[in-house]
Amino acid sequence: MKFFLDTANVDEIREWNATGMLDGVTTNPSLILKSGRDIKETLAEICEIVEGDVSGEVAATDYEQMLKEGRTLAAIAKNICIKLPITLDGVRACKTLVDEGFKTNMTLCFSPNQALLVAKAGATYVSPFIGRVDDMASDGMALIEDIRTIFDNYSFETQILAASIRTANHVKDCALAGADVATMPPSTITQLVKHPLTDKGLADFLSDWEKTGQTIS
Ligand code: G3P
Repeated sequence: MKFFLDTANVDEIREWNATGMLDGVTTNPSLILKSGRDIKETLAEICEIVEGDVSGEVAATDYEQMLKEGRTLAAIAKNICIKLPITLDGVRACKTLVDEGFKTNMTLCFSPNQALLVAKAGATYVSPFIGRVDDMASDGMALIEDIRTIFDNYSFETQILAASIRTANHVKDCALAGADVATMPPSTITQLVKHPLTDKGLADFLSDWEKTGQTIS
């Protein structure tokens, strides 16, 4: 399973990239707003830090303008993945951009049929928003499971990029359901390493080690 960081904050990206655990980055207009920075400048910097795919989202909603913005974003770096919303124009733009050899990430996926459609369009990734489905008192993980089954039934190569992840349990459940990628905010990826028994066990070992009076050299 690949780990992507869901942020446009380059300091956080640099920090996580240094762990060797980062396979890519996803951004969206809200994250660009939060960064307070220029989208092209920010994406260029992120693409220099991270080797894997970096999603940059178009702001246009009509086909022609989506293509124009998508090509502009893709020109920033070779690891840019053009992020498009799943609308009729978005799916059409996806197909065209895929035919031109670009990578695409189809976002705001809330149903298995939307995922089926973008897989047929040849999208590189589809982004089901688990947390937002849960927010509607529905089952975000069932969405991942359904998409996995459909993609496996037809051997679609589109990768399931689980997004809107809010908890460490979401990550575990995504891994069990066979999501290809989990994109997480830094707060969630940090939670993956934590367990109170690890902290307690380490404190006990360190205390006992000190009592031995030994050093390892
Ligand atoms: O990248 C999009 C997605 O991860 C958004 O998450 O928490 O705003 O629903 P959230």
